[in-house]
Amino acid sequence: MPDAGDGALLAVHGLHAWYGESHILHGVDMEVRAGEVVTLLGRNGAGKTTTLKSVMGMVARREGSVRFAGAETIRLHSDQVARLGLAICPEERGIFASLDVEENLLLPPKVRDGGLTTAQIFELFPNLRERLASQGTKLSGGEQQMLAIGRILRTGARLLLLDEPTEGLAPVIVQQIGRTLARLKQEGFTILLVEQNFRFAQTVADRHYVMEHGRVVDLIPNSGLEAAMPKLHAYLGV
Ligand SMILES: Nc1ncnc2c1ncn2[C@@H]1O[C@H](COP(=O)(O)OP(=O)(O)O)[C@@H](O)[C@H]1O
Ligand SMILES: [Mg+2]
Repeated sequence: MPDAGDGALLAVHGLHAWYGESHILHGVDMEVRAGEVVTLLGRNGAGKTTTLKSVMGMVARREGSVRFAGAETIRLHSDQVARLGLAICPEERGIFASLDVEENLLLPPKVRDGGLTTAQIFELFPNLRERLASQGTKLSGGEQQMLAIGRILRTGARLLLLDEPTEGLAPVIVQQIGRTLARLKQEGFTILLVEQNFRFAQTVADRHYVMEHGRVVDLIPNSGLEAAMPKLHAYLGV
């Protein structure tokens, strides 16, 4: 996958976004290089989800620049953005209750070559293979999250936007998701991850952006995270 020419696969500059009259993002700046795992940290309401949705073209009113692999996407619709090779796994996971695991998995269209086969997805998430014929409603929170991640891997996307994948999950499942993200990174996927749990973020990410009030206010390399803990506690109010 070519990068944006300045070393970034994804380059977000001066990104503004609105919901109706509400001005939510006030000039977000951030970059993600090919092969990196980068997190967006920040309190509830800081604008993390809105940033992912804006990158994906899912917020109607936005301004600024979002370049992916060198191409400006700020005027594109979400289906056009998807075809470039981005996919989002939303916070609410979006598993269809009335469909079984296999049907949920096959739901998102393939947008480009290079997606994982269902066999490869089951290799990443063996639990899903055992639950193939189970309805969405019968799955645990962890299984739903794995299914939600698994199905975007089929599409051929190379940049994965993951919104709080560990939210509400038991520690053992969080660890499993961490191992999966490490594996995806090894396979060459690039990941932009929204996380509240910076202890988890620390185990998977190369760098961390901190958001406050619709802006990026800090960038912390993972190697500097321990030293930044007092600051981070203040940012996150924890
Ligand atoms: N659909 C929406 N319509 C209006 N306001 C919204 C909508 N979604 C989120 N917001 C507001 O935008 C701000 C940022 O929200 P969000 O991006 O979800 O933050 P985060 O993911 O960091 O918790 C919040 O003040 C939230 O109330
Ligand atoms: Mg959010």
